Amino acid sequence: MKKLKSTILACAGLFVTASLTSGAAAGNSLPAPSLKSAYKNDFLIGVAINQRQFTGEDTQGAALIKSQFNSISPENVLKWEIIQPRPGASGYDFDPGDRYVEFGETNGMYIIGHTLVWHSQTPNWVFLAEDGTNYCDRATLLKRMHDHIQTVVGRYRGRIKCWDVVNEALQDNGELRKSPWLKIIGDDYIAKAFEYAHEADPDAILRYNDYSLENEAKRRGAIALIKKLQSEGVPVTAVGLQDHVKLDWPTVEQEDATIADFARLGVKVMITELDVDLLSRSRSADVAEMQKQVLSNSYTNGLPELVQQALTKRYADLFSVFLKHRNDVTLVTFWGVTDGDSWLNQGRMNHPLLFDRQWRPKPAFAAVIQAAAKP
Ligand code: G3I
Repeated sequence: MKKLKSTILACAGLFVTASLTSGAAAGNSLPAPSLKSAYKNDFLIGVAINQRQFTGEDTQGAALIKSQFNSISPENVLKWEIIQPRPGASGYDFDPGDRYVEFGETNGMYIIGHTLVWHSQTPNWVFLAEDGTNYCDRATLLKRMHDHIQTVVGRYRGRIKCWDVVNEALQDNGELRKSPWLKIIGDDYIAKAFEYAHEADPDAILRYNDYSLENEAKRRGAIALIKKLQSEGVPVTAVGLQDHVKLDWPTVEQEDATIADFARLGVKVMITELDVDLLSRSRSADVAEMQKQVLSNSYTNGLPELVQQALTKRYADLFSVFLKHRNDVTLVTFWGVTDGDSWLNQGRMNHPLLFDRQWRPKPAFAAVIQAAAKP
């Protein structure tokens, strides 16, 4: 059966590339395997979406999301600075979050919540004393954290199935980031965040999410953190490997070992923010070589064929590793729909995702479809 599936998908994958890269508008009705159908026996395929997409303003982006993905993450609208920009119960603005969740429910998506406790995109008032001149005390910040989590997770209880409870709490060396959360509350802020989230929705999957966990020191720090939480009975049930990768980092061996290491902890492993940065410095071993590299903007007229081929192979190799761990990886989420949506542009023209600026699948799309077909 597997062989039959592989043949069908491989042919269909090529057919999809031919038909969809012929400039046909996104979301055409051609019978073709979508990402979610190609991986339906392996893991969910998700995507980070923005307000223009879930409100339907970006009609072509919305069409791609519905046709290709079965999970969504909110790129920004559930972050503290957006959902509670001002203090107190009157300080919430739930409209964007409500519309994001409604879009997910209408389209039968596995809905992710991102993110409750993070050092970034959190309003200054959260950390300040009433007089606004210096940090508040531990009790005050714990109460603010508790109220925020209870209010937000409680509002979407049973609807958002998995939360990034704490995001990016570690430094590259594996030690805790010296954030205001740590400075004011102490290192138990992480445990408290998970406990508050579990109280608000006991059925939600609660995820620790971070980047560069493929690097040894940071990975060791994350494993130690999760083991400590588990020893204290803290309900951390998943880890998110963001996988903001490059063409040459991490190696497939690093990715393989990292997924295996976290799977051994007994937590679900999710790839949460996948994209391939083609513009920043590659992490070549030769520092001198790296320093010679400049932050380029070389691809303003599209990708040279060789780079397109390298991107295609990169995605195929990554998905081969994810498939090897299909029993532990439960979700792979891309951090954006099309290249034009990516945070990696930042004034330049990056090409990190599977769909181009005209919502058309790139060769990497067919390669990811075909990876699912390999026995
Ligand atoms: O909404 C304002 C808009 O009103 C204003 O006109 C505009 C110009 O200043 O800024 C808009 O806010 C931007 C926001 O995205 C919404 O578009 C912020 O400036 C911008 O900094 C913010 O960037 C987001 C970034 O997180 C912030 O750190 C990216 O979209 C988002 O993709 C990125 O995602 C993070 C994950 O949450 C965590 N992991 C890393 C990942 C990449 O940084």
